[in-house]
Amino acid sequence: MTDTTPSTRLSTKHLLGIRDLTKADIELIFSTADGFSSMLQGRIRKVPTLRDTTVANIFFENSTRTRISFELAEKRLSADIVNFSASSSSVKKGETLLDTVQNILAMKVDMVVMRHPAPGAHQFLAQHIPANIINAGDGTHEHPTQALLDAFSMRQRFEKLAGKRVVIIGDILHSRVALSNIFCLQKLGAKVAVCGPPSLIPFHLPKLGVKVFDQLDDALAWADIANVLRIQLERQDIKFFPSLREYHNLYGLTRERLAKHDKDILIMHPGPINRGVEISSAVADDPEQSVILQQVENGVAVRMAVLYLLGASNPE
Ligand code: CP
Repeated sequence: MTDTTPSTRLSTKHLLGIRDLTKADIELIFSTADGFSSMLQGRIRKVPTLRDTTVANIFFENSTRTRISFELAEKRLSADIVNFSASSSSVKKGETLLDTVQNILAMKVDMVVMRHPAPGAHQFLAQHIPANIINAGDGTHEHPTQALLDAFSMRQRFEKLAGKRVVIIGDILHSRVALSNIFCLQKLGAKVAVCGPPSLIPFHLPKLGVKVFDQLDDALAWADIANVLRIQLERQDIKFFPSLREYHNLYGLTRERLAKHDKDILIMHPGPINRGVEISSAVADDPEQSVILQQVENGVAVRMAVLYLLGASNPE
């Protein structure tokens, strides 16, 4: 007989990427986040769960949403926090990643939340240090908590994601959000497509079972949900398309484009938004169709769930 009892523990000690999570892990994170989300709507928004836990937030790349969201999640769980920014640290004097983190751990840190430009940096750390590692974005590879909060936000609108059609639009080549979303949504049974200029779509995507559109109207005709990504100019050392104006004309999500399709496609964006490039302000700020700020709100509850569940994976 199959055991259908819901799991109460994650199958992993770290959150390095969505690829390592099981469907049961994702569902456990969501059911835990449901509880935290309800709690955050009330007057008491703090619990003592991580009172004896110290978390280091180590950011080697810029961040607004992820960094503040993790910090708030940690504070709501009563953790002690240290924040480290590479731009004002001894990394500038040549210290290695491992030395930096080992020095922080020597001060008795239990969990490390890290954003780093090198894909696989978190995997490397997890092999060398005892703390729980949470990937807050590794280069163009994965951004697991963003995918979890994206899917959690879709689930609030649609309840079940199985069979739902999600198109990820934009700079897929340089996006860690895209890959984590693809893994997460497929594990939940959704159908995933990407749409963008062929120069910004990696060749291997069809091998992952992802549908590829190069015409935005075709993608919108297919989709229930559109997750729009920005063009990551900071990661592009060559020109992948002629101009931002041409990009907007071909792939920018506007009211006029959406009006051609007789359905309410749910609009999402992980931020930061480049208004007037990949999305118009009218679409981004639409109070019915767009859930961009709900994604940010949900990020705190989802990250609380991840921190809580990874903390519970540690021996007493
Ligand atoms: N979505 C996201 O990762 O935003 P930040 O870069 O501001 O953290």
